[in-house]
Amino acid sequence: MHVDGRRVNSCLTLAVMAQGKQVTTIEGLAKGEELHPMQEAFLKHDGFQCGYCTPGQIMSGVACVKEGHAGTDDQAREWMSGNLCRCGAYPNILAAVREVAGHS
Ligand code: FES
Repeated sequence: MHVDGRRVNSCLTLAVMAQGKQVTTIEGLAKGEELHPMQEAFLKHDGFQCGYCTPGQIMSGVACVKEGHAGTDDQAREWMSGNLCRCGAYPNILAAVREVAGHS
């Protein structure tokens, strides 16, 4: 999730730590029926298999691109390394992040 525009691991964040701050979760990323470009890219590239990691991957991917840390495959891998995909979708996740980075 994003707290005041910065990505944090929700599983390591106590609710009280986010008190009074702007919190954005995957549910708040789309604008009504219009998906965020990262969500569109994940659909296009089939960037999920189990789905458990998908919200975190998308939120981290959005921040990674915004931070300017997705300029190369290696850079995106490094800056997304806190979000693990243990199945076969990782190359597709990387493709989605890199595609959005190329359009921003
Ligand atoms: S898509 Fe969730 S671990 Fe790979």
